[in-house]
Amino acid sequence: MRLIPLTDKTQVGRWSALYIAQRIKSFNPSEDRPFVLGCPTGGTPLATYQHLIELHQQGQLSFEHVVTFNMDEYVGIAKDHPESYHSFMHNNFFSHIDIKPENINLLDGNAPDLEAECARYEAKIKQYGKINLFMGGVGVDGHIAFNEPASSLASRTRVKTLTEDTRMVNARFFNNIEEVPKLALTVGVGTLLDAEEIMILVTGHNKAQALEAAVEGSVNHLWTVSALQLHPKAMIVCDEPSTMEL
Ligand code: GLP
Repeated sequence: MRLIPLTDKTQVGRWSALYIAQRIKSFNPSEDRPFVLGCPTGGTPLATYQHLIELHQQGQLSFEHVVTFNMDEYVGIAKDHPESYHSFMHNNFFSHIDIKPENINLLDGNAPDLEAECARYEAKIKQYGKINLFMGGVGVDGHIAFNEPASSLASRTRVKTLTEDTRMVNARFFNNIEEVPKLALTVGVGTLLDAEEIMILVTGHNKAQALEAAVEGSVNHLWTVSALQLHPKAMIVCDEPSTMEL
């Protein structure tokens, strides 16, 4: 695993955006084989999205041949709810770039049959062969996407019950914890490990234990981020405060 330690979250945003841009630009796309990018939500990737938007606005990067798959979505809040991951992605990224709407893939947390929705998503990813680069963040408890502690490291896209800890952390985006959904749809750890490359962004001192578990701990389903150690091309881009337990 590559560890890229940088000074602060601005640098993490710039470095990761330049890396993604370089991967997209060096890819030779065709109609049936575009560049497939896995996308996270959360506060951590905001700086990355901002830099990617700037590169696009400066005419240095096009998303015309990029297909995206988001990691996860809440169950049971409307698509246009300000805190749905659907809204997050459109507001913070998709509506500022030239991606084709039909190339955006998001899980539908209001699908009448959630299991069928998860199976549809896995099948859609398989249509492209594999995700070229899966970018992600990490929860304070080491979850990747919404693969909470004790998730199977072989898991696929499925319905997941959120832990009280995750709901408390995410309550900052809602009026109170009662409004935070109890369920989510998430790609599995196995789905993430199938990607050609994984890049996890870690910033802030509150992620220091998760980073320690990812880098120095053993592969452990209680810290699902540690599954990165099983991947041949995984990288963690982190800031200085997050490295304080290393
Ligand atoms: C949520 C998301 C994760 C994300 C995590 C951390 O739980 N489902 O994909 O990594 O939040 O978010 P933040 O970057 O805001 O700390």
